[in-house]
Amino acid sequence: MSIMMIREDSAAAGHTEVKADKPLYHRRRILICCGATVCTTIAVILILVIVSLTLFKAKQPTLHVDSVLLSRFSAGLNSNSLLPTIEIVFDLNASVYNPNRASFQYTNSTTYGLYHGSVVAEAPIPAGKISARGTETISTQVSVKADRLLANPNLLTDFNSQFIPISTTTVLTGRVTILGFIKRHAKSTSRCDMVISVSNQTIQNYQCSNKLKL
Ligand SMILES: *[C@@H]1O[C@H](CO)[C@@H](O)[C@H](O)[C@H]1NC(C)=O
Ligand SMILES: *[C@@H]1O[C@H](CO)[C@@H](O)[C@H](O)[C@H]1NC(C)=O
Ligand SMILES: *[C@@H]1O[C@H](CO)[C@@H](O)[C@H](O)[C@H]1NC(C)=O
Repeated sequence: MSIMMIREDSAAAGHTEVKADKPLYHRRRILICCGATVCTTIAVILILVIVSLTLFKAKQPTLHVDSVLLSRFSAGLNSNSLLPTIEIVFDLNASVYNPNRASFQYTNSTTYGLYHGSVVAEAPIPAGKISARGTETISTQVSVKADRLLANPNLLTDFNSQFIPISTTTVLTGRVTILGFIKRHAKSTSRCDMVISVSNQTIQNYQCSNKLKL
C-alpha cells in the first residue's frame, strides 16, 4: 500500500512536472532567442560606435578669409553738433572647406569686429550646409558701431597715429552627420588682424589664422 502510494506520488509528480515543463521549455527558447537578438544588436551598435569614433571621426572644417575690403570709411566732426563721427564698414569674404566625407551643417553664426579687445561690430552669417569635401564661400558686411568705437579711450591716440587696428573673429559651429545618423560636433574658427590707414583709407595688411586666440 505504501509502495503504491509512492509510485502514485512519483507518477503524479512526474506528470505534473511534464505538464509544467512544456511551457517552461518554450519560454527558455524565447529567452535564448531574445538574448541572442539583444546581444547581436548591442554588438552591432558597439561596432558602429567604434567605427564612427575611429574611421569616421569628424575633422574640423577650415575657414579661410579670402579678402577684406574697406567699403566705407569716414571720420570727422558733425557740423551741427560738433561731435566726432566715424564710419567703418568692411566686406569680408571667406571660404570654408569641409574635409569630411559627410556634410557639415552650421548654425547661425556671427563675425565679431574687435578694437583693442572690445567688441565693436557684429555681422551675421546665416546658417548653411557644406557638402562632403566641398567648399562654400561666405560673405558678410561688418559695420563698426560708431558709439562703441568713440567710447574707446584708445581711439584718439590711434587716430593721431593714422592707424586703426581692427580684428575680426568668426566661429562656425555645427555638426557633421556620419552615415546619416551619427552626429558629431564640428567647429571652424578664424581670426584676422588688420590695420586701417586713415590717410588713404585702405586696409594696410591683414593676417588671418585658423587658430582663435581671444
Ligand atoms: C565677396 O563675395 C561677393 C559675393 O560672393 C562678391 O560680390 C564680392 O565681390 C566679393 N568681395 C571681395 C572683396 O572679394
Ligand atoms: C537663423 O537666422 C534666420 C534669419 O536671420 C532666422 O530666421 C532663423 O530663425 C535663425 N535660426 C535659428 C536657429 O536661430
Ligand atoms: C597708404 O598709406 C600707407 C602709409 O600710411 C602706405 O604704407 C601705403 O602704401 C598706402 N597705400 C596706398 C594704396 O596708397
